[in-house]
Amino acid sequence: RDPDGRRVFDLRAAPGRRRLRPGRPTETWGLNGPMLGPTLRAARGETVQVNVRNDLPETTTIHWHGMHLPARMDGGPHQPIAPGATWSPYWTIDQPAATLWYHPHPHGQTARHVYRGLAGMFIVDDPDASVAGLPSRYGVDDIPLIVQDVLLDDDNRLVERRRPMNGVGVLGDQVLVNGVLHPYHEVTTERVRLRLLNGSGARVYRFGFTDGRSFAVVGSDGGLLPAPYETDRIQLSPGERAEIVVTFRPGRRAVLRSHPPDLGVDVWNGRFSGGDDTLDVMEFRPAARLAPSPALPSRLAAAPALAAASAPVTRRFELSGFSVNGRRMDMNRIDFGVVRNTTEVWEITAIDSKPHNFHVHDVQFQVLSVDGAPPPPELRGWKDTVYIPDRRPVRIALRFGEHTDPRTPYMFHCHVLYHEDQGLMGQFVVT
Ligand code: C2O
Ligand code: CU
Repeated sequence: RDPDGRRVFDLRAAPGRRRLRPGRPTETWGLNGPMLGPTLRAARGETVQVNVRNDLPETTTIHWHGMHLPARMDGGPHQPIAPGATWSPYWTIDQPAATLWYHPHPHGQTARHVYRGLAGMFIVDDPDASVAGLPSRYGVDDIPLIVQDVLLDDDNRLVERRRPMNGVGVLGDQVLVNGVLHPYHEVTTERVRLRLLNGSGARVYRFGFTDGRSFAVVGSDGGLLPAPYETDRIQLSPGERAEIVVTFRPGRRAVLRSHPPDLGVDVWNGRFSGGDDTLDVMEFRPAARLAPSPALPSRLAAAPALAAASAPVTRRFELSGFSVNGRRMDMNRIDFGVVRNTTEVWEITAIDSKPHNFHVHDVQFQVLSVDGAPPPPELRGWKDTVYIPDRRPVRIALRFGEHTDPRTPYMFHCHVLYHEDQGLMGQFVVT
């Protein structure tokens, strides 16, 4: 903490080298280390300041994905940090407890910067709304998992070029969890909360255990779900998070795997977008004796209730060919303005048979419907990124808060980072 009571974090982005597998170390980028960055953590009501120093050979930014904050502090493409410079955004945290994250957002370069290793988690706590019964000892029974796929060449260099025909970007053939290949976790408690983050630029994961066991989904991007939801699969597209609680048996190992995802596109496009892929994610090794965990609560948080499913649509977004409504991102064009403290209903439709999702800065939104149907249980909490299946409109309700700035825009975009870099992004201001 600094003398003003701010919680201060220091991040330094720099090149590094990491031994991912036998042979040469891989050239990576990292924050305060060779790859990825520290988990930042702060409570609702606290004012935080992050001093971000850029010791990379090129300009980058750091964006606080999922955070409600003033546009000037957002870390999008309008807040570049030149090599050698330090950027020090600060804001007061005012949102429910959630698993957020941070990553670069330089215009046209985001996929490469994230792939090289610039990303970290930002956990928000809300001591006034804590829920008894959820595992919450960080590193013991509350584990952050940054899941990213990687493709290495014979010299262990990161392959940064996508294959021809592939319309989503670089797909790896191995999975890193927290920057480690073939990871495992030694389980010491009966139940463990996993904070899953899809930190990949292109790949959609469909997580499940190889023994078919079920688990409870307790959280989405912006906080806890209204109630735990028991399932054996949870699908996450790039940028999305889910918190799950898994029950283990003493001594019985379990493997978390990504099964072929349902991309909602045709077979051809699915194949070239990773739709047929199965990848092992990590192993859990429970001890011979496990400390007991409390039973999960049956209620977790209030459900988002910004608008009814029948509310009129205020804006439509058509995603196709790297454009939104026929326009590609232009740093000098503000696409629209929204009025503070108002609720809008947006309808997003993808029409080019490619996998897309949709992310909005500054707000957490409510999913009203997917193709006219009520959202599935995992989409009934706060979201900032949602998958958009082809030709099936997704309706969301958003409420823009008090951070007005007529000149500095927030972004909305596809979080398939190759699509974002190609221009599937737009800008809005809150006034
Ligand atoms: Cu996670 Cu605009 O980004
Ligand atoms: Cu896309």
